Amino acid sequence: MAAAESLSCLLRAEPRSVVALPTGRTVEPMYGRLVELRADSQFDPTDARFFALDEVVCRSARRPFFEFLLEWFVRPCAVHANRFHVLDPTTGDLDLECRRYEQEIEQSGRFDVAVLGIGRNGHVAFNEPGSSFESVTRRVELAEGTKEGVAEGFGVEVSDIAGALTVGLAAILRARRVLLLATGAEKAKALADALQGPPDPACPASALGLHSDTTVIADGPALALL
Ligand code: GLP
Repeated sequence: MAAAESLSCLLRAEPRSVVALPTGRTVEPMYGRLVELRADSQFDPTDARFFALDEVVCRSARRPFFEFLLEWFVRPCAVHANRFHVLDPTTGDLDLECRRYEQEIEQSGRFDVAVLGIGRNGHVAFNEPGSSFESVTRRVELAEGTKEGVAEGFGVEVSDIAGALTVGLAAILRARRVLLLATGAEKAKALADALQGPPDPACPASALGLHSDTTVIADGPALALL
């Protein structure tokens, strides 16, 4: 998968890279391929830093995105725990947790690459429609459709979802490079709005129109409306 090859090349050329990582079904093949590349010694994550883009706030205290990244990337690629940064909604004070995370991102410089999926309503990370392009790491409410997507993809009950924590659009727009991944017809409208329209908070992914080094990797059905 092109995204995995691209990330592996970056980590080979710049082993101390700071990488923002997405979660979701779209990116499973990317992680699958990255694990193969790691096993083949094509890159070594030891000196890189990885930041999860977001996390669901579950009433049950589950952490589904953390679990996903552990399973798909961190454990099979043997990423050291102190190189893997996450938003932890079980810490109690969510605003404090968001401020801590924003500071951690700032202390790392900026993302050398932010790998992003896209939601059916154009959200990136959990920046839902209406998010300011200057937004920082924060607690957000989720649209009903987004909750349903999380429920389908991660086996979480909709009633368990109290909201989410997300990196803001400002940190994504500061990233040196962005890789935006989209597959399937259900992403076609969001991708067309993101790439064709002027940047508009109604489609958060359209903020990437303001970014100078964004690469889109998409399949035919996702590109159908372009
Ligand atoms: C969630 C995540 C997004 C992700 C989106 C798409 O809402 N917060 O970061 O891009 O889902 O997920 P999927 O690839 O499963 O469609």
